[in-house]
Amino acid sequence: MKILATRRYPGPAFDELGDAEIGPLRPRDDVEVLVVANEPVDPAAFPALRLVANFGVGYDRIGVDELSRRGVAVTNTPGVLDAATADLTWALILATRRRVVEGDRRVRAGDWTGSWADGFLAEELTGSTLGIVGLGRIGSAVARRAEGFELRVLSTRRSGGIPLDELLAESDIVTIHAPLTDETRGLIDGRRLALLRDGACFVNTARGEIVDEDALIAELVSGRIRAGLDVFAHEPRVPDPLLSLPNVVLTPHLGSGTRQTREAMTRIVIDNVLALQRGDELLTPVR
Ligand code: 8YV
Repeated sequence: MKILATRRYPGPAFDELGDAEIGPLRPRDDVEVLVVANEPVDPAAFPALRLVANFGVGYDRIGVDELSRRGVAVTNTPGVLDAATADLTWALILATRRRVVEGDRRVRAGDWTGSWADGFLAEELTGSTLGIVGLGRIGSAVARRAEGFELRVLSTRRSGGIPLDELLAESDIVTIHAPLTDETRGLIDGRRLALLRDGACFVNTARGEIVDEDALIAELVSGRIRAGLDVFAHEPRVPDPLLSLPNVVLTPHLGSGTRQTREAMTRIVIDNVLALQRGDELLTPVR
């Protein structure tokens, strides 16, 4: 079975693919399996394709509808990255709410001159209200970690939960954990961002396109809110205005980026490919 992977994916499981080829997604009529990281696949370029095994839980860029129409299966890697993504979310919540990166810069710049950091106060985390947009697997892992900080937790979910506008208006910290779909693209628009409380923290480790990035930048430039952002609408491009703002903490799409999690993601990718080779059911088909 001819397998083409867009890179060598991390961890020992990858070697179980044997003679998989590593290379770009150029048209090929012999390739039956593609291993990708949420990269767009043109099914017309791969007429023999049977499976696209995605390294990642989100598969918004692959083009699943067209692949399904042509009978090509798609798998993803749910579950194994929940903890790592929830942990990074908390890193961003804490860093943003407690002004950790600003503090670090002050120390490095030699601006810490006394024993007190007068005039450099943050907002308390413990006892505040956390709004989770999307209480799925990752959102629930974030909620479990919130117990330790004695937070009041509000959440929206696919069906149920409190209305989104209410959550935005009542939370001190808002964190996004929805997949990018036609329904969630631009979900947090300018009107909704305006509902956030003055001084609120907005955290996104899901997908940049869920938020109107220009409207978010406008709110951040005004200094009214703070943000911890791991994802952006046009990665790896980060909009210039964000780079100089003190009220924003930026990370380069690190949600699942631990060695253990990335290796576990590769394990699922490979197990799906091996299942196809054996003629077994796929482990984690996306639909
Ligand atoms: C990956 C992710 O880094 O799983 C996801 O949806 O965003 C990350 O784990 C990304 O998909 C690249 O594969």
